[in-house]
Amino acid sequence: MISQNTIQQILSRIDIVEIVGNFVKLKKRGANYLGLCPFHNEKSPSFTVTPSKEIFKCFGCGQSGNAIKFIMEHEKYSYVEALRWLAQKYDVPIEETEVSPEVRQQQLMADSLYIINNFAREYFSNTLFNTEEGQNVGLSYFEERGFTQETIRKFQLGYSLNTWDAFTKTALAKGYNLDYLQKTGLVTVRNEQPGDNYRGRVIFPIHNQSGKVLGFGARILVKNDRAPKYVNSPENEIYVKNRVLYGTYFARHAIDKLNECLLVEGYTDVVSLHQAGIENVVASSGTSLTQHQLRLIKKYTNNLTILFDGDNAGVKAALRGLDMAIEEGLNVKLVLIPDKEDPDSYVQKIGADAFREFIANNKQDFVLFKLQISMQEAGNDSSRKSQLVNEIAETISKIDKTEDFTRQQDYIRQCSQLLKIDEQGLINLVNKFIRERFQKKEQQFNRENANNNAAAPAVDDDLSPEAIAAMEAMENGGEPAVNFFNPDEKQERELVKILLRFGDKPFSEEDQSTVADYIFHLPYDFESLADNEMVKRILREYKVMYDQDNLPDKKWFLYHSDQDVATLVVAIMEDKEAELSTAWKDKFEIDTVYGDNAYLKDTISTTNYLILRKIRKMIMENQQEMERSTVFEDQIKCIEMHKHLKVLENELTQGLGTVIFR
Ligand code: UTP
Ligand code: MN
Repeated sequence: MISQNTIQQILSRIDIVEIVGNFVKLKKRGANYLGLCPFHNEKSPSFTVTPSKEIFKCFGCGQSGNAIKFIMEHEKYSYVEALRWLAQKYDVPIEETEVSPEVRQQQLMADSLYIINNFAREYFSNTLFNTEEGQNVGLSYFEERGFTQETIRKFQLGYSLNTWDAFTKTALAKGYNLDYLQKTGLVTVRNEQPGDNYRGRVIFPIHNQSGKVLGFGARILVKNDRAPKYVNSPENEIYVKNRVLYGTYFARHAIDKLNECLLVEGYTDVVSLHQAGIENVVASSGTSLTQHQLRLIKKYTNNLTILFDGDNAGVKAALRGLDMAIEEGLNVKLVLIPDKEDPDSYVQKIGADAFREFIANNKQDFVLFKLQISMQEAGNDSSRKSQLVNEIAETISKIDKTEDFTRQQDYIRQCSQLLKIDEQGLINLVNKFIRERFQKKEQQFNRENANNNAAAPAVDDDLSPEAIAAMEAMENGGEPAVNFFNPDEKQERELVKILLRFGDKPFSEEDQSTVADYIFHLPYDFESLADNEMVKRILREYKVMYDQDNLPDKKWFLYHSDQDVATLVVAIMEDKEAELSTAWKDKFEIDTVYGDNAYLKDTISTTNYLILRKIRKMIMENQQEMERSTVFEDQIKCIEMHKHLKVLENELTQGLGTVIFR
């Protein structure tokens, strides 16, 4: 965990114009900056950065948020990853708060593996370009395959010498730990002798989304039936095969812009297509897609186009796994590359433009494609036919209705036509599957609850849809998901504003206290006085930091990891100055006596308002209790209570300041 202190230091350095400016060319326009949106394709700029509010917004595609959100979106980072990126950028040393020794151990291990991989990447690249064997064997192989120097450098391709231990020796001499070297799979120990795992192979580094090397794929150069074509890194702390797609680092911006991800099978397909200028492409590395990989794609786009090799016998098997993609809400299209070619050979054969055109013209919808293949297979066999109707209904049922209702309807219409069956019948069947799945989920939920073991929330770095909706609502000039037309909420919001803006300002000269001191030393717990959950949360977190003598400033909440909180704080900070001090006066027709320092007045009026609200609530409850009670003593107590509360109410409305009530 990054310490709060570090986060504060990072936040205090954030300059949104500079950060966005790293990725977007910005021009100043009045109080704002303008540029071409990095999140969608556009010719005239509709992407703005407003430094005063510390937010960006694209009027074309609607993307908006603060600097951290920008980094998260642009680099597809989690909140913590974005903070680390900023820390590095601003040279803020990262102070980690106590993590468990196991976690710490894991982090150290992961860091070491990254360092070794990076060393190996450089070593293999160096071998490729600067050794005789590298040039004669490795480089000439790549050249034969049509890869340019530029491509080779971009993908950081390399070569491993055909020796027993050239790499191993160098790495050990550099002081790298043998255990770690083995973990990366770069070194293997045979007969107690450590030696190179890749020998006489060309090397494809596998990068994560931010460009760090997770592992390697090493391709053999001569056909050899006894050795595998590729030797890949073993799984370890950083390389988890089913979470990785080869090429995401190089493809991410193109996928974002074109709003489509092409999926191929091989490393070489990715490299070749890139060289041809088709950059929105990643590879599954020859295995079927996992849910993690689908979610990775979904971070960038909902449109997945899968290119199958011409001779691929596994198409049918692959189709079965693709229901999962539908469930994830992806729009899946398929393209069959013809004539026993693969995307690499085909693009080299027909050229980039023809390839693009081929893809565009031969994209088939996954559901309809699947149906057609199954129909061919079923022929006239009526039991197979009814089986395939069931299968297709199940697939269609997995399209999330709320997300994509018309798409589901379209499929039902088209499929019932193709199958020559009654549309309403297919609708009923689809609904049956939806119902069944819903019931299953409900049962599972009940089971889990019965075990008193509620399912752990899914671990997901993404912003919640609510958070995004709130942010967009706010950006569009509306209000976030909280009702601020309610005057009570307005006061709660005011309290937050006072703390964030004036918390550290002097409250009393006499005892050198601050505004925050005043608020937190009143005999009321404002967290429990507030109704709004986000306000409560801000007050709670502020109090914790106050108790640690570490007052958060407004940036702390402006860049809060919970975007709902960040959104609320942006909105609060945008309130007009004039709003301060008026509510109290209007509502209770009193004025306070605190002279020039408006914030003092506001502090007292706002806290008093909230306390008064509480007292009035208590008066009401007390009256209700009095009406209910039938015991004389209780009634007397209620009357006493009523008097006491009325005195307090009176004092407050007289603006007498601090009230003591327990
Ligand atoms: P391919 O056999 O299609 O390889 O396997 P390729 O990348 O197109 O290589 P070239 O064009 O023949 O040189 C597709 C992917 O399957 C994985 C690799 O990720 C490969 O890129 N694979 C294949 C392995 O991991 N091990 C193997 O032995 C073979
Ligand atoms: Mn190939």
